Amino acid sequence: MGFQFIKTYNYRNLVNAQTNLPGETIFLVGDNGQGKTNFLETVYCLCFGAPFRSRINSRLICHGEKEMALFGLLEMGPACLNMAYKLGEKKQITVNDNVVLDRKDLLSHTPCILFCHEDIIFIKGSPEKKRWFLNQTLGLFNPLFLDELRTYNRILKIRSVCLREKNEDMLETLDVQMVCAGLKLMESRRTLIKEFSPFFGEYYRRITGESFRNLKIIYKPSWPQGEESPSSPAGEAEKSSLLNLLKQKRQWDYYLGQSSTGPHRDNIKFLDGGREYAGEASTGQLRLMSLILRIAQAGFYRQKTGKKPILLLDDVLLELDPQKRRQFVESLPEYDQAFFTFLPGEKLLETPRGKPFILKVKEGILKEGQP
Ligand SMILES: Nc1ncnc2c1ncn2[C@@H]1O[C@H](COP(=O)(O)OP(=O)(O)OP(=O)(O)O)[C@@H](O)[C@H]1O
Ligand SMILES: [Mg+2]
Repeated sequence: MGFQFIKTYNYRNLVNAQTNLPGETIFLVGDNGQGKTNFLETVYCLCFGAPFRSRINSRLICHGEKEMALFGLLEMGPACLNMAYKLGEKKQITVNDNVVLDRKDLLSHTPCILFCHEDIIFIKGSPEKKRWFLNQTLGLFNPLFLDELRTYNRILKIRSVCLREKNEDMLETLDVQMVCAGLKLMESRRTLIKEFSPFFGEYYRRITGESFRNLKIIYKPSWPQGEESPSSPAGEAEKSSLLNLLKQKRQWDYYLGQSSTGPHRDNIKFLDGGREYAGEASTGQLRLMSLILRIAQAGFYRQKTGKKPILLLDDVLLELDPQKRRQFVESLPEYDQAFFTFLPGEKLLETPRGKPFILKVKEGILKEGQP
């Protein structure tokens, strides 16, 4: 089981209250602008220590107030999750009253996976967005990857300063560090895509019934891709060829004042029988793809960790036809708790996971309701 209850204090438009959540499947039903997504966001904040819609903490505070707080009681594991923010101060996150200094530490407690309209950017958005999805998928089950990513980003930042200062001596050292750190990222991403791509293809076939489609996710690294592990002898050859590459690009990098190649420029492509899917797919198909990408992420997390995630599904069922809707819901991996939002009058799901607990949402007030 996930959360037994969540208490909100000055959080966006939600009234200060304790909302009991006695169920595995929670339906939030309400008109536009009433607070459904805001409530999903409270779950996300408690799980990850940050919201999904804005990085600006002050936006989380109800207009006219100066502080906000969220508290969630989990059924299992570290029971009490807390996030609080006061204007002008640092946000504070605690787990069982212990201060969390690094949000990465929250990942091992209760990860949640959010399904929302914006996910379409992972299919047809910029390489940066696609990398974000890759990094998140890896970070969910492998916190070490996040350390590697931070190391690489730190090196990249210092390298930019050295490029602008034309500090050749430092660049010699930094290039070696960048190649070592970069190869580790590439290896993690390459392995992920290798395992994740068939997994994703299988979900696609299951949900759409289009067994003839040969959908693949392909890793397109910025640096030429060797097949060897960086620690193998062949990996040494790869390192020295990348060092040469960085040397060749040095003048261009001086001109740009930043590193023009490296895993911070990696990309992924979605190919449908060799053609790029995003180039031809309809908006509906792209939306469906993004949902399947998320469901595959949740299933992959479940398979890798053996743990059940919390799922947040924000308005995403509305656009599926009845058949796909059923297939989609049946394909959801086992979850600790799942929150679905609906508009009044919208056909509610017949979930395969027992009776849902319904919350009617109006002007920031959540009340138990009937279907
Ligand atoms: N800091 C804040 N203080 C007060 N109200 C806020 C704050 N931030 C957002 N809101 C308000 O919260 C309201 C509810 O937003 P929310 O996104 O949760 O609606 P929703 O029920 O999900 O609607 P929809 O069905 O359209 O998605 C909006 O009217 C918005 O203006
Ligand atoms: Mg909403």
